[in-house]
Amino acid sequence: MPKIITMGNQKGGVGKTTTTANIADALGRCGNRVLVIDADPQGNCTSVFLREIHLRERFSLVKALEAPPGKGFFSTNACRTHSDNVDVIPNNIRCMLWERSVASTPDSFLGFSRVMRKDKGLRNYDYILIDTPPNIGAMVNNALMVSDYALIPIPTGDQFALDGLAIYLNLLQNIRSQNEKLRLLGVVLTKFDSREEIYVKNRQKIMTFFSRRGIHVFNTSIRLDTDIDKGHMKRKTVIEFNASAAGALDYSALTEEIVTIVRRTYKE
Ligand SMILES: Nc1ncnc2c1ncn2[C@@H]1O[C@H](COP(=O)(O)OP(=O)(O)O)[C@@H](O)[C@H]1O
Ligand SMILES: [Mg+2]
Repeated sequence: MPKIITMGNQKGGVGKTTTTANIADALGRCGNRVLVIDADPQGNCTSVFLREIHLRERFSLVKALEAPPGKGFFSTNACRTHSDNVDVIPNNIRCMLWERSVASTPDSFLGFSRVMRKDKGLRNYDYILIDTPPNIGAMVNNALMVSDYALIPIPTGDQFALDGLAIYLNLLQNIRSQNEKLRLLGVVLTKFDSREEIYVKNRQKIMTFFSRRGIHVFNTSIRLDTDIDKGHMKRKTVIEFNASAAGALDYSALTEEIVTIVRRTYKE
């Protein structure tokens, strides 16, 4: 069965989408079959991977979730992308209506697992990566309920992202009481600027803070890199836009670290 990793942090602009897209791309380039589930109604991951805008209406996460029981599947809503081995389930703004309509129903936590349980097409994937919105709502709850791992991107210089993190860590704890396989894969520091002393000091401070709490921080930090934005403007991951850019090298190295941890866990 595929390993499922959710990118999460209740704050926006921390690098969830960038991290999802680039890990997916790097995994795909190494020959893994990857499914990206865009669980953010803003559809940013969809924008990076799917240039054919009209497909967003024909196939979507919400379409699978809204179908009558037994008729909706994630795998049949997955679209091929221009990245080798990467498929994406698109999202759109209708997802917000779905989230509202399932409030206080089992689907607010269990919609994904209900739809995924009988989806044989998902067995074709090695990894499923889920990009989530910057809140703690039905999409985030659903994603964590089906995940093997949570990965938390935190910008190296963003105090506000750190301040609110206790809420997300509490959520992981609560979900773990219902989804025992969920583990915190670790924290990845993003937007790291080694030229600024304050970033270097803050990186060390954050690493010590999490290590003392037994939370893994990846050795690879993602450097601040304008090629990431430039790539997005052309609907490309930074790896596709410029394979020798700092961001591309860092995301490839991070992906190697992730694969090593996942392999080690499943050998145990
Ligand atoms: N390492 C980085 N260097 C420079 N810009 C980055 C980096 N990571 C992300 N960005 C930019 O920061 C913005 C927010 O990133 P994004 O991945 O969309 O965050 P989120 O999904 O958490 O809201 C985007 O404009 C993105 O291109
Ligand atoms: Mg995003």
